[in-house]
Amino acid sequence: MKICYVVAMEAEAQPFIARYGMRKVENAFAPLPCQLYEAEVNGHTLHVVLNGQQHQRDLVGCEAAVVATLSAIQRLHPDLVINSGTCGAFRAHGADIAQVYIGNGAMFHDRRVPGDDAWGTQSLGNYAVWDGSAALAQTLGLKMGKVTTGSSLDMQPCDLDLIRQHGGELKDMEGAAVGFVCSLLNVPILYVKSVTDLCDSGTETYEEFSRNLNHACEALKVVNEQVIDYLTAK
Ligand code: ADE
Repeated sequence: MKICYVVAMEAEAQPFIARYGMRKVENAFAPLPCQLYEAEVNGHTLHVVLNGQQHQRDLVGCEAAVVATLSAIQRLHPDLVINSGTCGAFRAHGADIAQVYIGNGAMFHDRRVPGDDAWGTQSLGNYAVWDGSAALAQTLGLKMGKVTTGSSLDMQPCDLDLIRQHGGELKDMEGAAVGFVCSLLNVPILYVKSVTDLCDSGTETYEEFSRNLNHACEALKVVNEQVIDYLTAK
């Protein structure tokens, strides 16, 4: 089995890369900035593709996620894409900092396209997840939630309206973009998301995100190890 992680930030992937002693493949996607790491785990191939950097910072957001996902699938032909990273969540839904969720769907929450239902449906996305996601979540004792994706770390009232209307639980900046590419190329996608901030905590998001990033990424590594064990034991 070939498993490919698509991850936005180095901090999100580093504990995992270190755990598996993954090798960096230099200039794998040059001139694109995406970075490739690889390892063999229990006889299976594991890849991590990072969005890469621009202006000395990790590229976050939908555009970079699309470039990385498309590049990864076209070069590596994975059987499964895993979008792993951090997210915001809601205290009102029982979320905690560094709690790790499995996604049960992904959509965009900041696309407001007037028109008939078909345009609206297309712009919101609503991408399906790998059909083994629920069984995996149950076995590992993880909660599931709907990933909603936008281009900003903060949240405007109109974003919250869409999130509420569609039962969104996990707010990120890449998930639906990765799901979009997977839907076009028919590659199953699993979401593994760790909470850095609570969107309804009243605290400034970037401050909360920065404070909890390392803690959330350590929790993400622990769960991803369980995910890999689960997937490669089959
Ligand atoms: N990544 C981590 N926290 C986030 C948030 N609140 N919104 C979007 N992306 C995030």
